[in-house]
Amino acid sequence: MMEVRPERPDEYEAVEQIHTLAFGTGREAKVVARTRQSLQYTPELSLVAVLKGRPVGHILFSQVGLEDRQGVMRKVVVLGPLAIHPEFQNLGTGKRLVEEGLARLEARGVPLVLVRGHAHYYPRFGFVPSVQMDIHPPFAIAQDEYMARPLSAYTPDYRGMVRYPAAFAEVGYPVEFGL
Ligand SMILES: CC(C)(COP(=O)(O)OP(=O)(O)OC[C@H]1O[C@@H](n2cnc3c(N)ncnc32)[C@H](O)[C@@H]1OP(=O)(O)O)[C@@H](O)C(=O)NCCC(=O)NCCS
Repeated sequence: MMEVRPERPDEYEAVEQIHTLAFGTGREAKVVARTRQSLQYTPELSLVAVLKGRPVGHILFSQVGLEDRQGVMRKVVVLGPLAIHPEFQNLGTGKRLVEEGLARLEARGVPLVLVRGHAHYYPRFGFVPSVQMDIHPPFAIAQDEYMARPLSAYTPDYRGMVRYPAAFAEVGYPVEFGL
């Protein structure tokens, strides 16, 4: 039986290892490690999928800014990185993590979730290309690979340019938000 719950400190290393194996580089693991040290981290939104006591997948949700054309900054949430251990992919674990995360965000009254990722994967969870909502990443990327998922608290005020915190410098994003 697969369990999905917040990560524990004694699992940090295993979680970072999963990202390194799944992505073939340590960059995403560093985003996770740096986010844990930042004000953008919410422990209840860093979830592991656990099989026989061992983490086999991890998803991070953390805070980012969304700056409208008047310069008003609103807080929203970004999904990622998400990784499943290579030996456990395509078994529905990613789906469990995304769905549990979205339920937790909905319960917390979060209005909007952003993701950079596979255009084939995220639409099944209600993500649409963010450009349709007048939401734009601060880097060049194919329009269908940057997506947004509105939740109940969403209003059209949530639009503009996404501003990433410093942890995301590890994956090359321009960073200009938070501490
Ligand atoms: C992408 C990933 C998170 C999906 O999680 P998962 O538990 O393996 O997948 P699920 O069982 O939930 O869903 C299976 C679907 O994911 C798709 N998928 C799996 N790996 C994929 C990949 N590397 N790229 C694109 N799609 C992928 C499968 O094609 C399948 O699609 P289908 O349902 O239309 O057949 C996982 O495979 C992974 O960690 N990949 C490597 C790291 C990565 O790419 N992270 C996501 C960055 S956005």
